[in-house]
Amino acid sequence: MIGPMTRSLAGIAWPIRTARLRLRAATPDDAEDTWEFRRRDDVARWLTRAPATFEEHRRRFLEPDSLRKTIVVELDGEVIGDLMLQVEDAWTQAEVAQQGRGVQAELGWVLHPRHGGQGYATEAVTELLRICFDELGLRRVAASCFAANESSWRLMERVGMRREVHAVRDSLHRSGEWLDGMGYALLAEEWRRVRPAGAESGGATS
Ligand SMILES: CC(C)(COP(=O)(O)OP(=O)(O)OC[C@H]1O[C@@H](n2cnc3c(N)ncnc32)[C@H](O)[C@@H]1OP(=O)(O)O)[C@@H](O)C(=O)NCCC(=O)NCCS
Repeated sequence: MIGPMTRSLAGIAWPIRTARLRLRAATPDDAEDTWEFRRRDDVARWLTRAPATFEEHRRRFLEPDSLRKTIVVELDGEVIGDLMLQVEDAWTQAEVAQQGRGVQAELGWVLHPRHGGQGYATEAVTELLRICFDELGLRRVAASCFAANESSWRLMERVGMRREVHAVRDSLHRSGEWLDGMGYALLAEEWRRVRPAGAESGGATS
């Protein structure tokens, strides 16, 4: 059985290659490259944080809690995006709390708009799901976004995630507007039905 200690990015044999991309755990040196796209208004408008300066971004990026859940996406050696994989406990009743420890993950993604529209996010997130289910042995993954962020929820649908929630005006945007929120999820068993273990490429290589 996979224990909570192995359910972290540190236990994975990085880098992992997909057909066109290279995924690896983020390092402090990635602060600058990720700022290149996270600083953009068309990206930051959808993100939880919109740092005003590189220093603010860097401070947050380097926080151990942030760094250890960040994966960077490279195309031909250039960092073109980042992914979040945050392993979490499931909600459980008290007597079975131990069984719910570290069994699921919250996911997130950002792609440099310069590289949008070519399926790179689909490719990276498809691999992220494989990592979650095959490598980390998680039972469920979930992600959420503003309903107005159509690019993000369409991405979730492309990779096979299932819409669970369309909440009405539950999410406060920094513009001051309460917006609809979307929640998507996928269970390991659902993922295996369409993508049996070992059927996809992906694996550690330099
Ligand atoms: C969400 C986000 C990652 C999606 O990026 P994207 O470019 O739409 O996604 P992909 O890279 O998978 O590209 C998909 C597009 O490429 C096309 N495409 C081309 N080749 C493709 C391929 N081989 N595989 C899949 N799609 C392909 C698809 O048809 C699709 O085009 P469409 O949008 O016209 O239908 C991006 O918009 C983003 O970073 N947004 C800002 C940050 C953000 O919102 N993050 C999420 C917060 S909740």
